[in-house]
Amino acid sequence: MNILLIGSGGREHALAWKISQSPRCSRLFIAPGNPGTAQHGTNVDVGISDFDQLIALCNKENISMVVVGPEVPLVQGITDAFRKSGLPGVKVIGPDAYAAQLEGSKSFAKKFMQKYGIPTADYIEVTTANLEEGINFLKRQQPPFVLKADGLAAGKGVLIIQDRDEAESELRAMLGGMFGDASSKVVIEQFLAGIEFSVFVLTDGSRYILLPEAKDYKKIGENDTGPNTGGMGAISPVPFVDAALWSRVENQIIRTTIAGIKAEKMDYTGFVFFGLINVGGEPYVIEYNCRLGDPETEAILPRLQSDLVCLMEAAADHRLEGLKADILPLAAATVVMVSGGYPGDYTKGRVIQDIPAESDQLVFHSGTAVVGSQLVTSGGRVLAITSLAKDFRKAAARSTALAQQINFEGKYFRRDIGWDL
Ligand code: AMP
Ligand code: GLY
Repeated sequence: MNILLIGSGGREHALAWKISQSPRCSRLFIAPGNPGTAQHGTNVDVGISDFDQLIALCNKENISMVVVGPEVPLVQGITDAFRKSGLPGVKVIGPDAYAAQLEGSKSFAKKFMQKYGIPTADYIEVTTANLEEGINFLKRQQPPFVLKADGLAAGKGVLIIQDRDEAESELRAMLGGMFGDASSKVVIEQFLAGIEFSVFVLTDGSRYILLPEAKDYKKIGENDTGPNTGGMGAISPVPFVDAALWSRVENQIIRTTIAGIKAEKMDYTGFVFFGLINVGGEPYVIEYNCRLGDPETEAILPRLQSDLVCLMEAAADHRLEGLKADILPLAAATVVMVSGGYPGDYTKGRVIQDIPAESDQLVFHSGTAVVGSQLVTSGGRVLAITSLAKDFRKAAARSTALAQQINFEGKYFRRDIGWDL
């Protein structure tokens, strides 16, 4: 079977690496891909939101499975476009636009969780029409205050504010267009204090299989300081997610969510990413994403022994019953190398050197490009390095050592992935 993978980050390099190992995969195309994905298939210069061209590509190359990496095309309706395309045989891994609102609209997700009794923070939804109600809700909350733009805001739409007056003025600014249309509606939430982790499943809209859990490190600085980034590292498995917590997660969150997806008759074949927080042993949902995480994917796929293509095919054909994912009993740690200055301004085009030709460690490309015969930086997050070992500390030490060895001017990475565990 020929497969098309959509996206161009470290997550997509990890997916391309895994998909290309499957005997079920004949040819792999990646749109638009990066120099890392090109090691495992054919990059095609088509944008992630150019549905007409992506459909034409599938027609031309006889592609029968499309795996969607990032959320933007899902929320924009790529799955719907394929369903309407006259290529009904194409299996699309990713929900339709309606179901993708679980990620694309915080308000949609909160209503869904409320309806199906899924544990999450108390909240209120605010627009200019009920601003007073929002301000009263803030008065009843203890600091810090959590304000979320309803729509997609490239990971920047959540503000956590200590001061009540500041929260009120930020609320007005958000409604006034701080994040454009995405914040014309704002969700104000009760603050939950705890430790975050991420759980992933592959679903067909009524059944699911569990994938390994992970914990990512979002802050730029060591000891989780400084501004948020797309993700500076990840580990899998997560040591504090023991059998008792797993069983709560599965019973209170995963089963109820999949039952809700089924009851709502959502067209959902794909991954569900549960962003969770452990509050004194009780898991709560912070957010849903309708795709895999980055850099979590780079940490979880190397632990997956099963053939991912077979699992995705089974999901698309509603054959998940009785299947499970086989997981390697080793720990993975991913360290992300970024351009100096990120998540602020940074310089592109720095030459990348000293990536080992032969290694049992994995070097996934995020923001790289080939210029002439040289590999250069082309983004904030440049490389994601994953190592496996008996425990996450050894795995993290191996990834850190390789990050030390690989060079580009201005490189930065955290040496403390897993520090809090
Ligand atoms: P989200 O985009 O909803 O995942 O929010 C981004 C980040 O904000 C999360 O990863 C959490 O660190 C934090 N956050 C969001 N909601 C809450 C909450 N209700 N309580 C505490 N922290 C939160
Ligand atoms: N690492 C978080 C995300 O992919 O949204």
